[in-house]
Amino acid sequence: MIVTKEKYEEYHTKNLVPTKWKIDCKYFEEQIHVFPFYQWGDTHTEFPRFACPLVNKTGTFHWDDQALGPLDRLNFLKEYPHYHNQVWSDDHVEKWREFMERDHKMEDLINETHFTKKTIACNIKSLDVIEELKPYMYRSLILKWDFLGHFKEHIDTWHPTHWFRLWGTTNPDGMVLRYNGKEETDIEPGRLYLHDSITPHEAVAYTDNVHQFFIAFEPNEQLLHSALY
Ligand SMILES: [Fe+2]
Repeated sequence: MIVTKEKYEEYHTKNLVPTKWKIDCKYFEEQIHVFPFYQWGDTHTEFPRFACPLVNKTGTFHWDDQALGPLDRLNFLKEYPHYHNQVWSDDHVEKWREFMERDHKMEDLINETHFTKKTIACNIKSLDVIEELKPYMYRSLILKWDFLGHFKEHIDTWHPTHWFRLWGTTNPDGMVLRYNGKEETDIEPGRLYLHDSITPHEAVAYTDNVHQFFIAFEPNEQLLHSALY
């Protein structure tokens, strides 16, 4: 399903649009911690960023899961596999810049819609509240950041996009999310928000054990009408 800019803007009326879905954070944290959390991505691994897959390509847990990192990096590594886990040498930086400046077609890239297999972490009782969302989920993860875990400013998709994204956190007091440099306030713990990932955004954790819900999904109109206030 491809969503036009007009349709996208009909739903993304602000950076974070609250949905009816709210996860019980205490219950969720008790249940999720039995599943494996892996290091996020293959670069900047000095930062404490971990992830547990809810939906990936295999439905299983494995350390080299393609879902566990930025997809722009994954696409870069498909072309330049020898830079995997490598430091930022001059030629590495140069190739990365050249790759990021290219006019990519979403159809040619590995993207969120290619991840459709649920892991058993998706079945925990505290996630029963999103039961009606589950058939529509694409690549989805639980992020766990400790102090200074962060994402630098970036975008995740562009018009026309093939998916929407939900975001939420268990600890809005322990982290900051900014769009175009401006901090979001009044974030409710456990609430899932429709997140505008076409607008440049960045985030950082200022404490340990900040969990974030990172859920891509097929923008089915019936589902959206049911989920948005
Ligand atoms: Fe993002």
